[in-house]
Amino acid sequence: MMTKEEFITLRDFVYEKSGIFFAENKAYLLESRLTNRLDELGLSSFEDYYYCLKYGSDKAKNEIANLFDVVTTNETSFFRNPPQLDAFKILIQKNYLNGSSSIAAPIRIWSAACSTGEEAYTLAIIMEELMQTTKQNIPYTIYATDISQKVLESAKRAVFSQYSIRNTDESFKKKYFAEENNMFKLKENVKKNVKIDFMNLMDENTYRSYKQMDIVFCRNVLIYFDDKVKKKVVENLYESLKPKGFLTIGHAESLHNISRAFKPFVFPGTIAYQKG
Ligand SMILES: C[S@@+](CC[C@H](N)C(=O)[O-])C[C@H]1O[C@@H](n2cnc3c(N)ncnc32)[C@H](O)[C@@H]1O
Repeated sequence: MMTKEEFITLRDFVYEKSGIFFAENKAYLLESRLTNRLDELGLSSFEDYYYCLKYGSDKAKNEIANLFDVVTTNETSFFRNPPQLDAFKILIQKNYLNGSSSIAAPIRIWSAACSTGEEAYTLAIIMEELMQTTKQNIPYTIYATDISQKVLESAKRAVFSQYSIRNTDESFKKKYFAEENNMFKLKENVKKNVKIDFMNLMDENTYRSYKQMDIVFCRNVLIYFDDKVKKKVVENLYESLKPKGFLTIGHAESLHNISRAFKPFVFPGTIAYQKG
């Protein structure tokens, strides 16, 4: 049983390192997620677990990576929230497919909290389709980052369940996946432009590797942060964009009271935020 003091100590530690905030009515959630870690390490109290995290121990080297794996919620799927993907398509068509036969520099797209990769790979499929329909080569790189090593490993494997691709067109399933034992392995032509890496949105220093972005997707992660962290993250994402670049956040998320720096652009069923 986690005491109130243990909850507060661990809650503050998780918040400081990841930005994820567990309110007091979510103590049971933090407790159930950390219980497995205690069992695995053979520890008898949450206080001992905190000391492992804070000061390390032979048994618990890199325990912080395991902590990130268990405190994060990684729900995602291919073709999640179609209006945002339609807006993405319109933005690419309008800004980069204006009839000119060659695009000088690759378009830089960032899936900043990519979980198991479905969001980044969805954007890659959309780019591949746009190139085929317009018969134009559009060089692009999609950066896919997350704080959880476990989901990043899974993103790199790129083998997905039926559930994960439930909203994917049948024709895309056939074209971009190889089915094996009821699992769907993504083909190399979708993977080749997606670069997967660890990145903690709380770490100001790592944003310097993600500059000059044309479009940033940061969906369904701000909800786990409090306003202070949301403001800091959104400010850093703003700096990561090129002038006139676009930010997309989750459809249930809002920049109200978080940032006034962006210009909202209304698309059917969604809003994209443009850097001034
Ligand atoms: C619910 S998933 C969203 C996945 C995808 N963007 C989508 O909308 O389908 C949230 C992801 O945010 C990641 N995350 C949480 N805190 C983070 C942080 N501080 N830095 C980077 N990623 C973080 C989690 O590991 C998780 O994979």
